[in-house]
Amino acid sequence: MSFRNYKEKIDEGDTVILYLCNNFFAIEVKPEIKNKKGELIENVYQTTFGALKVRNLIGSNYGSKVELSKGWGHILQPTPELWSLTLPHRTQIIYTPDISMILLQLDLVPGCVVVEAGTGSGSLTHALIRRVRPHGHVYTFDFHDHRAKVAQEEFQEHGLADFVTARHRDVLAEGFGDDLKEKADAVFLDLPKPWTGVPHAVAAIKNDGGRFCSFSPCIEQVQRTCLTLEQQGFQDISTMEVLQSEIKVSRKTVPVRDLSFLKHKKGTVQLVQVPRPTQSGPPIDLAADTLTQVSYDATVACDEDRSEANKPIIDRIPRANILNVATRISACMAADDVPKRMDLTPIEAPNTLAL
Ligand SMILES: C[S@@+](CC[C@H](N)C(=O)[O-])C[C@H]1O[C@@H](n2cnc3c(N)ncnc32)[C@H](O)[C@@H]1O
Repeated sequence: MSFRNYKEKIDEGDTVILYLCNNFFAIEVKPEIKNKKGELIENVYQTTFGALKVRNLIGSNYGSKVELSKGWGHILQPTPELWSLTLPHRTQIIYTPDISMILLQLDLVPGCVVVEAGTGSGSLTHALIRRVRPHGHVYTFDFHDHRAKVAQEEFQEHGLADFVTARHRDVLAEGFGDDLKEKADAVFLDLPKPWTGVPHAVAAIKNDGGRFCSFSPCIEQVQRTCLTLEQQGFQDISTMEVLQSEIKVSRKTVPVRDLSFLKHKKGTVQLVQVPRPTQSGPPIDLAADTLTQVSYDATVACDEDRSEANKPIIDRIPRANILNVATRISACMAADDVPKRMDLTPIEAPNTLAL
């Protein structure tokens, strides 16, 4: 229930996030769980810093420090961002840098109706729900029966069931259903053949217009989707890749030359020979004194590298993050009105900076 509202104390049944040495773990606050034999046993969560008795969390404050048998951690309220880092993976998922761009490009605000396929592990769905609630609604579809069922159970456990409907359906074959005709402000597709879903998106988007976005790993998928979007009367089609780089700023002590001798008259400065400490070759002339000063060292680290070691195997498969976004201005645009412009070039962004 803790996804729904921020609150002070942890209740039984909440999903909480254990923060431990820059790692996050989702824990369901259940005092007892069933073992493999189906017997009820005490719920003890094992970490690299020892065991956590889950029962002890009930009644303690969010944000508080908790004792483990060999250390301590902090208990945080769950957010869609933390959930994306900790959720049980049933599929590949979309991560926060792409999610933030998707929410922006879909132009979502509280009250919007958004249609999503496929649901997968529900990573994006949690962010969509937070953006459109309390009066909006997310309709999410997956043709994998078990995934659709587990996602609906998760939304229920997280207290989000009022804002989302998870349905089991092959949307490419059957569309989004008659009840969603001309109801959606936005449609999002994370499917192998998104271009097949474009006509269904047209049927679902409101008559006065809406936004479409698809997420594809291959440029061929992007090309086919762009062509279909153009044929179906979408305007403003653009393709982008979100590349995030993190700048780490740290304190570092470095030697600097004392150049004060430059202030003296010509011919009065005494130079001494100082051998280079790390390189071979002839010694260089330096002023007699060297100073040290604190400077700041900035390095750019790719986000992928940072988390690679901790990712589950399914997620280490490289996945380019290409988004197609487009606006549908009118559902009944004449073929002659279709603009001829189409830009298939992904936006280029540097993944290293010269500092
Ligand atoms: C990559 S996952 C989606 C991950 C999701 N965006 C997330 O962030 O967790 C793709 C999902 O689409 C579903 N899918 C594929 N084709 C589909 C179709 N025609 N209709 C409905 N769902 C489909 C798959 O079962 C899979 O669960």
